[in-house]
Parts: sequence; structure tokens; C-alpha cells
Amino acid sequence: MRTHLVDHPLAATLLTTMRDERTPNSVFRAALRDLTNCLIYEALRDAPVASFEVKTPVAVTSGARLALPPLLVPVLRAGLGMVDMASALIPESRVGFVGLARDEKTHRPVAYMESLPDDLTGLPVFVLDPMLATGGSMIHTLRLLADRNATDITAICVVAAPEGIAALEESGLPVRLVTAAIDRGLNADAFIVPGLGDAGDRQFGPR
Ligand code: PRP
Repeated sequence: MRTHLVDHPLAATLLTTMRDERTPNSVFRAALRDLTNCLIYEALRDAPVASFEVKTPVAVTSGARLALPPLLVPVLRAGLGMVDMASALIPESRVGFVGLARDEKTHRPVAYMESLPDDLTGLPVFVLDPMLATGGSMIHTLRLLADRNATDITAICVVAAPEGIAALEESGLPVRLVTAAIDRGLNADAFIVPGLGDAGDRQFGPR
């Protein structure tokens, strides 16, 4: 699996704001939104473009558009905070939804919602979820996408744990990872250390 670590001073400052426990929810949401801008920018670096003619006020020149705008799939709840910026940057994108909540004892994802196109053949997919901890939620989402024939999937995360990255690799599912950080590991509650806490709670309050 290809992993792209977004190592940039702007991403690092936004991530620091998100990590800081004193950051209020509204500021956390704003930092996540801005960091999503950096992550999408990097995720699209090698995306194919189609060219077409565009007329400036002075002359005709060649313009570019994304040849294949990806389907955006926020994983609820936490991924909701990434979808506004992602769809503002790629306005032609469609958006699907997956709702998962991790069981506090087993740490396994419990599915409560999915709304995805039936056939994803030939369509790139960007999965948006700030946290990759055990990888269980991402693998569940990737299976839903692979069952619909998706073969070009990018997981876009803010913080990833080595355990989650290893689980994605072992899954053999067709995915590459774009993340702003690879942290130390998981604690006994399967929280990422140092991480940023629970990205859903920090945006929307506790469930
Ligand atoms: C968090 C996070 C991921 C998942 C990561 O969501 O947003 O979806 O846990 O953990 P995993 O890699 O071990 O599966 P949570 O279940 O807390 O739900 P929420 O987004 O509604 O807060």
C-alpha cells in the first residue's frame, strides 16, 4: 500500500491546533476544514486532467479540469468535518455516506448507515475520516466500496496509527493512504497516542 505523509509547515500548525486539548470545538472544526484543504491538494497531485480551450480576456489558451472527479465518502460522524472543504475544492464530486460508531469495549465498528452509489466501476473514491486507529472502520468502508467494484480508493486521514496502517496493508484492499501524521501507536482503549482525542467528540460533543 502506498502511504503519502503530508509533511508541510502549514499542515503541521493546523494539526497542532487539533492536537491541543485546550482548542475549543469551533476552532477544532475550522482547523480540520483547513487541513482537509492541504490533504485534498496532495491527494490530487497525480490526478489525470483533461484539457480544453478557455478564453482569457486577452487570448485563447489551454485550460484543465479533473478528468475523473472522485466520489467523496465521509465516514460519520468525524468525517463530516472534512466533506465541505473537499466538495468545495472538487465541486463536480458526488458524495456518499457511511455511518459507523466504534464499540467502546470491543473497539469494532458498528454500522448504522450507508448511502453509496451501487456501481463504482472506474470511479476514484476519496474516503474522509480524520482518524485511522485500529483500521477497523476504514476496512469496513473499503469493503463496502470494493463490493461495488471500486478499485482506486484513497483514504484521507489526519492522524494514522501504525497498527491501522498495518491492518490496511494486510487487508489486501485496493487503497492508498494520505495522512498528515503517523503517530506512536494505540493505548489500551485503542485511542491513538499522542493523537488528538476523539475527532467526533471534539467537533460535535460526546455521543
Ligand atoms: C472514530 C474515528 C474513526 C474510527 C477510527 O470514530 O472517526 O471513524 O473511530 O477507529 P478505528 O480505526 O479503530 O476503527 P468513532 O467510532 O469514535 O465515531 P464518531 O466519528 O461518530 O465519533
